[in-house]
Amino acid sequence: MGSPSEDVAEILVSEEQLRDSVQRIAAEVTEEYAGKSPLIVGVLVGAFVFMADLVRVLDFELEVQFMAASSYGEGTEAGVLEITRDLPEEIAGRHILLVDDLLDTGHTLSRLSELLMARGAASVKTCCILDKPSRREVPFEADFVGLEIPDQFVVGYGLDYAHSYRNLPYVGVLRSELYTS
Ligand code: IMP
Ligand code: MG
Repeated sequence: MGSPSEDVAEILVSEEQLRDSVQRIAAEVTEEYAGKSPLIVGVLVGAFVFMADLVRVLDFELEVQFMAASSYGEGTEAGVLEITRDLPEEIAGRHILLVDDLLDTGHTLSRLSELLMARGAASVKTCCILDKPSRREVPFEADFVGLEIPDQFVVGYGLDYAHSYRNLPYVGVLRSELYTS
């Protein structure tokens, strides 16, 4: 069996570009949240790499948690987002920053934002390292965005294809013969 990097046809976002984006986002997030003790909530599984990089360059008091959600009925008008791992504590009155790997159709972050606001959060903002604006199905923009990418299926830096490739340190496109669908 080959190594994951051997399956990559093209590197779309390099490690250096990712580092620069994390630094820029961190500066913006610091400006918004320093002194507010925010709860930074990563969306599992994909956000784990970006979360780890981001929180380690934030030098102010914060808390970290994770949620997981999966969507059903995709392609149908009433795609439902099921929370498969919820926050362990109430979040009423908290400033929340939702962190995800990639903003695609917009369903995940828009629904999670609504849910956390409905639970009484003081504020909910969203952050993603990658954005595919051309794929949006609902009008939604993240407050903090790393890089916009074209409508291509990508892996690495937390993003998977069939549960693999999350550990690649950059964002890449797989060789076309590997995508079976
Ligand atoms: P959406 O914005 O609700 O469509 O959700 C975006 C989620 O779909 C991301 O957090 C990823 O987990 C997944 N996703 C979307 N595009 C890709 C991709 O190109 N590669 C891997 N996962 C993707
Ligand atoms: Mg995800």
